Amino acid sequence: MSVRHFLDLADAGGDALAAMLGDALDRKAARAGWPKGKPDADAPLAGRTLAMIFEKNSTRTRVSFDMAMRQLGGNTIVMDAGSMQLGRGESVADTARVLSRYVDAIMIRTDDHAKVVALAEHADVPVINGLTDHSHPCQIMADMLTVIDRKAALAGTRWAWLGDGNNVLHSIVEAGSLLHFDVRIGCPAGYDPSMEVLESALKRGATVQIIRDPLKAVAGADVVVTDTWISMGQDHAEQKIAALSPYQVTPEIMAAAAKDALFLHCLPAHRGEEVVDAVIDGPQSGVWDEAENRLHAQKSILLWCFGMIGEG
Ligand code: CP
Ligand code: NVA
Repeated sequence: MSVRHFLDLADAGGDALAAMLGDALDRKAARAGWPKGKPDADAPLAGRTLAMIFEKNSTRTRVSFDMAMRQLGGNTIVMDAGSMQLGRGESVADTARVLSRYVDAIMIRTDDHAKVVALAEHADVPVINGLTDHSHPCQIMADMLTVIDRKAALAGTRWAWLGDGNNVLHSIVEAGSLLHFDVRIGCPAGYDPSMEVLESALKRGATVQIIRDPLKAVAGADVVVTDTWISMGQDHAEQKIAALSPYQVTPEIMAAAAKDALFLHCLPAHRGEEVVDAVIDGPQSGVWDEAENRLHAQKSILLWCFGMIGEG
C-alpha cells in the first residue's frame, strides 16, 4: 500500500471518509465517560509517534491531535516552526526526509498549501493537513461527525455557509460533493470561494450554489455554518468587515433556517462579528460538541493514514 496522506478530503474519497466517520462514532461511544487520558482498549497506535509542526497558532488542532495520539496509545512531538530550522530556511523537502527517519506521521499547519503538498511528496510517512490557507479538512470531518450525531443523517442535509469564502468553506464544499449534502453559500461579491474548488465539486456532482441574499441562502437549512471574517495571516480590513456585516449570524438569520437547524463554527469565534452571543450560546449551537469531535475525528484520520481503516 502506498503512503496515505490526508491533504484534502477528495484525496481520500467518499467511501474512506464514510468509513472514518463510522469508526469515529464507534470509538467515541466505546469510551464514553472514561477519563480523557486513558487509552482506548485496543491502543492501536502503541509504539507510533506523530510530529506536529505549527507555523500558525492553534488551540483545538494542537490539543485534539495530541490527545488523539495518547488515546490511541501513541506519542507526539509538537514543534513551532519558528523554533525549527524550517523557520530559518531549511527546505520543506529536507525537513520531510529527516522527520521521516524519526517519526511515523507528520501533521503540519501552514499558510501555503503547496508546502503541505511538498512535505507529502518528500516524506516516507503519512502527512496530515492541519490547516492551510486553502483548506481545513480535519475540521470538516469533525463538523460532519457533529451533524451525524445531532441529525442522524448527513447525505441529503442542507448546509448554509454565511461569510468569507475561505479555507473552511473549501473543505465543506469538497465534503458536500463526496458525501452528498447540499451547500448554499451566502457571501458578498469579492469574497467568493475558489472557483477551482467549486468547479471540481460540481464535476463530482455537487449541489452547491452562491446566493448573495443571506436570508435566502439560509432558507430551510439544516445546518448554518460560519467562520471568522479575517483568517490567520490576513490583515484586519474595515472594507471586508463592512462587506460581510449583512452575513452575521443572528437570531433572525437562524429563524430563516429550518426550525431545528444546527449552528456550527470551527472556532475561534469573533463574537459580535460573524456571530452574536445569542446564537453561539443559544440552544441551536453545536459548537462545543463540534470542538470535542475534533478529537474523535482526528483519531480516525490517524487510523486511516496508518491503513487501519478502509480498503488498502
Ligand atoms: N478550529 C481550529 O482549527 O481551531 P484551532 O485554530 O484552535 O486549532
Ligand atoms: N479560517 C480560519 C480558521 C481557523 C481555524 C483561519 O484560517 O484562520
